[in-house]
Amino acid sequence: MSRSFKFISLTAFLVIVYYFSIVANGMINPPISIFADSNAGVAFCGTVDMSPANDPANDHPGRALFRTSCTACHKMQGKLVGPPLMGVVEKYKGQKEWLHSWIKNSRKMIEEGDPQAVALFKEYNELSMQTFTNLSDEDISGIISYMEAYTREAKEMGY
Ligand code: HEC
Repeated sequence: MSRSFKFISLTAFLVIVYYFSIVANGMINPPISIFADSNAGVAFCGTVDMSPANDPANDHPGRALFRTSCTACHKMQGKLVGPPLMGVVEKYKGQKEWLHSWIKNSRKMIEEGDPQAVALFKEYNELSMQTFTNLSDEDISGIISYMEAYTREAKEMGY
C-alpha cells in the first residue's frame, strides 16, 4: 500500500469517527437516522429526537447534564439501550425519592433487593444502568426536572 493511500484512509477514518461523535452528541442531525427506532418515528420522522432544534425543553438548565450522562443509553422517546424517559417522572409520581436513588445508584438498589428495582432490571434483560454517585443531589434533581419539562412541553406541542 502506498504511503499516500494509507494517509488518505487514515484521514477518512478520522472524519467518519468525528462525524458519528458529533451526531451522537446531538450537535447535528444526521440525514438519515441511525439511532431512530420505530417508536420515535411518528413524532420526529425518525430523526434524533433530542437535537436542540427538536428538543422542546432545549433551554432547560438540566439538559446539558442529561445529555452528557444519559443519552448514551436513553432517548426521551423511543427505546435505545434503556427505556424511553418521556413520562418517566409521572410513572414514579409520589416516588420521587425512589427515582432519585435509582438514578444515583440503581445497582445498589438491585443488590439490596428493592422489588421495583429488581423487576425493572429483569424487564430489561439484566442490562445494568451506569451509577451516578459522582453527581450531586442538585444535579440529579436538575436532570429529573429536565425530563419533566421535556414531557410537559412535548405534550403541549402534540408530540
Ligand atoms: C449504560 C447505559 C445507561 C445509562 C448511561 C443510563 N441508563 Fe438509565 N437505564 C438503563 C437501563 C438498561 C435501564 C433499564 C433497567 C435496568 O436494566 O437496570 C435504565 C432505566 C432507567 C430508568 C427507569 C425507566 C422506567 O421506565 O422505569 C430511569 C428513570 C433511568 N434509567 C434514568 C436514567 C438517567 C436520568 C440517566 C442519566 C443520568 C441514565 N438513566 C443513564 C441504562 C442506562
